[in-house]
Amino acid sequence: MAILDGKQLAQTIKAELRIEVDKIKEQGGKLPHLVAVLVGDNPASQAYVRNKVRSCEEVGFQSTLIHRPADISEKELLEIVEQLNRDTSVDGFIVQLPLPKHIDEHQVTLAIEPKKDVDGFHPVNFGRMAQGLPCYLPATPMGILEILRRYEIPTAGKEVVVLGRSNIVGTPISILLSRKGYPGDATVTVCHSRTDDLAAHTRQADILIAAIGVPEFVKGDMVKKGAVVIDVGINRVEDSTSKSGYKLVGDVDYAAVAPLASWITPVPGGVGQLTVVALLINTLKSARGEVY
Ligand code: GUN
Repeated sequence: MAILDGKQLAQTIKAELRIEVDKIKEQGGKLPHLVAVLVGDNPASQAYVRNKVRSCEEVGFQSTLIHRPADISEKELLEIVEQLNRDTSVDGFIVQLPLPKHIDEHQVTLAIEPKKDVDGFHPVNFGRMAQGLPCYLPATPMGILEILRRYEIPTAGKEVVVLGRSNIVGTPISILLSRKGYPGDATVTVCHSRTDDLAAHTRQADILIAAIGVPEFVKGDMVKKGAVVIDVGINRVEDSTSKSGYKLVGDVDYAAVAPLASWITPVPGGVGQLTVVALLINTLKSARGEVY
């Protein structure tokens, strides 16, 4: 078994991004600028957004955090989105999800100008992705592709099983890996809560991607020997031995599955590390006008 080291890979890519930023500076160009909009005080969202802003600083991007209270109206939030759409100093922005219940996430996503949608959540970017056109890929699927590419994991003709069909992970990664080219050309099966005999599917997987948000769901008897296991889950579970009172575990029972796998991503330190990097790559692409 070998570890797909997301942390180290993220550091390598950030170093590459810093070099690009230095080139921009030498040429007297404008630094890439990412804005993150955070609504309310969901602790996980706060942690994710802080990480995004800190990562921008690490690579030398400009970043701005717009933090509004949970009782902001949908109209006020849509006004912020409109302002960011128009602001030529902003290359890309994200509105951190989930939003409070009184705000329609779909309306907010639709309001984001696709050219600045570095999360790749707008249906225009999703449609372009599905057709293989230039677009912003959503961060987590892009992070998975980056891991496969950099570790040179073969995908052509492989059986890929994706657990989960969310708009931001399961569905897009299943489309991307079944498309022509590398990483892609795989035979992809999408499993979900209504799949009959799920383990019969997962046991066929050469590459198993778990993105269902259930702590340690994938057990040893669900994995073929030698499989590549990509664990997208980041689940907080109680842990009385930890100072914070909780620990992070993936959707895969790591202790049981790791000995069977040829490659596996740990949690933390796996896919999650690459999602922020993907956002930075999209922001740089936007600043350079490489996508639209
Ligand atoms: N919530 C969980 N993941 C994400 C993400 O990638 N982007 C945004 N905007 N919100 C999220």
